[in-house]
Amino acid sequence: MANLQNDRPPAAPVRLGILLSGRGSNFVAIAESIRAGRLKGVEIAVVISNVADAPGLKKAKDLGLPTAVLVSKGRARAEHDADVIACLRAHGVDLVCLAGYMRLLSREFVTAFPERILNIHPSLLPVFPGLEAQAQALDYGVKVSGCTVHFVDEELDHGAIVVQRAVPVLETDDTHTLAERILAEEHVAYSEAIEMVASGEYEIRGRRYVKREREPGG
Ligand code: GRF
Repeated sequence: MANLQNDRPPAAPVRLGILLSGRGSNFVAIAESIRAGRLKGVEIAVVISNVADAPGLKKAKDLGLPTAVLVSKGRARAEHDADVIACLRAHGVDLVCLAGYMRLLSREFVTAFPERILNIHPSLLPVFPGLEAQAQALDYGVKVSGCTVHFVDEELDHGAIVVQRAVPVLETDDTHTLAERILAEEHVAYSEAIEMVASGEYEIRGRRYVKREREPGG
């Protein structure tokens, strides 16, 4: 499978395309990690929202980043995705990061960026995929939940896992408090996963992300 370092100029920053639909706290955490020098070797090429008044979009503008609004409501998925793909390509995006992007991707989209799309999900996948993962965890009565950053394939919340972080579920939790504590871990996990993928120093064996050690002198 295509490792994103294979067909890029060496030492050029990996260009991220962020897709969001709402609040954008994961996007802001990624931008802050880059600004603070904790997440190296990447830059944000564009922030795209499918919702015109998404707060995350405003935050991107405030940070002076390139933005695009491609409203999805009322449009056929394939048609809208084709516009998003064109926008990502126009901005030279190497790695797509879904950050609260409330829309399923078409097969064409996934195929256009093979092993180059990441998503973050607020549960320890494969349990509790889909919407309201934190409520699902509480309702089921698990004692540990967390978050997962994974590659996106054609199935919902399904591709190979890059990073997971666990969060205890407390007896006093409601969906709000649990979601808040998971979110704090998401903000760490996403930058960590982006660095792990942008490095190119890995391979996917079956479903497993396996770190590849550098060749001596390489
Ligand atoms: C996060 O909980 C993320 O895991 C899920 O959607 C939420 C987005 O939050 N996919 P934000 O917009 O990044 O604040």
